[in-house]
Amino acid sequence: IPVDTFDLVIFGGTGDLARRKILPALYRRFCSGQMEGDSRIIGAARSDHTAEEFQQLIAEGIKEFDPKAYDAEKVAEFTSHLDYVHVDALGETGWKALAEKVSGDRVRAFYFSVAPSLFGALAERLHTHGMADSNTRIVVEKPFGHDLASARALNQDLAAHFDESQVYRIDHYLGKETVQNLMAVRFGNMLFEPLWNAQYVDHIQITVAETVGVGGRGEYYDKSGAMRDMVQNHLMQLLCLIAMEPPARFEPDAVRDEKLKVIRALEAVPADDIVRGQYSAAGKQPNYLDDVGDPTSRTESFIAMKVKISNWRWAGTPLYLRTGKKLKARTSEIAVVFKQTPHSIFGPESGSHRNILTIRLQPNEGMDLGVTIKEPGPGGMRLVDVPLDMTFAEALGPDAEDVPDAYERLIMDVIRGNQTLFMRGDEVEAAWAWADPIIDGWEQRGDRPMPYDPGSTGPEESMMLMHKDGRRWREIKT
Ligand code: BG6
Repeated sequence: IPVDTFDLVIFGGTGDLARRKILPALYRRFCSGQMEGDSRIIGAARSDHTAEEFQQLIAEGIKEFDPKAYDAEKVAEFTSHLDYVHVDALGETGWKALAEKVSGDRVRAFYFSVAPSLFGALAERLHTHGMADSNTRIVVEKPFGHDLASARALNQDLAAHFDESQVYRIDHYLGKETVQNLMAVRFGNMLFEPLWNAQYVDHIQITVAETVGVGGRGEYYDKSGAMRDMVQNHLMQLLCLIAMEPPARFEPDAVRDEKLKVIRALEAVPADDIVRGQYSAAGKQPNYLDDVGDPTSRTESFIAMKVKISNWRWAGTPLYLRTGKKLKARTSEIAVVFKQTPHSIFGPESGSHRNILTIRLQPNEGMDLGVTIKEPGPGGMRLVDVPLDMTFAEALGPDAEDVPDAYERLIMDVIRGNQTLFMRGDEVEAAWAWADPIIDGWEQRGDRPMPYDPGSTGPEESMMLMHKDGRRWREIKT
């Protein structure tokens, strides 16, 4: 879909996220013909650079972080749309120059790829220098707050100068192709929705396992932990999409209203329903404490929890969430485990069977439905579970192999003015309101995470969380 001509200003334009994700994503969209006419991307940061130096820096970034798409000629064409302004978020430098550059009558987006402590100052400066009109959109990254109070303060800082319809809060999980597929699968098929409730679903598992540790980001990570870094945002979004009521339309507020209702219906989680872990050392690889440089840290690099949603659809059907660093494999998936048939006509020797619908978010994006059939052979009626397995790439052909990165989709949605895949302020606050008491509980009690081996599936206790309910985690496959 073509997009309007735009000016995109990236505060923190020389930073890691800009070089690694934002600009390579824009380059790809440019290659697909989605940067109309004289659209411009303006880097804005504290360091003093010429436009040429910035163009050079970004060209190198694309080569390093997206070598597959790199093409010297195309990159040169792309970077000719790039400009740079030296701006001091807290001082006066550069603001006038910036205002002059973006004075045209076109869509204007300001991407705050900076520490959240600067959000308020940036919003205020944009207003003072006449850049906060109805053509303006603001894009902000996570972490959106550290708890409810700080998230509220950020929302207020932005709301002082911008309407909610102008604010785009990024959760990059929502930009992932397969995450959007959750909605397509649920609401585009007749097959699943009638069974999508506590009467037929035994439980749901959401797993986001990573193999990387926190080395290099220790300072940030140790203040967050898996709960703040992954659960409050990414896993919460997955949970909402899997559990929400069908929205009336695929429109921003229709979808976000339904997600908010899910978050507000979450029950408080008792301490016994949570397992936290910290990875141990392995060979020459340091343990978590060494990685973050604090031998006394009680921050978790793994978390597993049982979550309940108090509403008609889900009462009695728990959701189990787990995520962690340095686990056995990089896998993200959602498994909907259905109940057993109410009565087996084949007798006890046929064994116990249930259907499991698995949606694989990454890697190897696809869906798998476990179906029970007769085991071949002349013996009695023995049953066996087999997979109806489909990878999207195979099913859709070569076009599906080049799946756009989450940032490509999200940045273009900002330019198009579509907020469906962005978090609304009240949604973020509700997620913190749920997470805060859980985190406060650990802090007050001084709870310590359990150690686990790198390359494992997390602490033993996480298995017990399932076993005590007579269930088990799905395997994390390498
Ligand atoms: C980020 C977290 O938001 O998401 C990281 O801060 C995590 O700790 C990352 O590694 C995971 O994203 P993805 O897209 O690699 O699954």
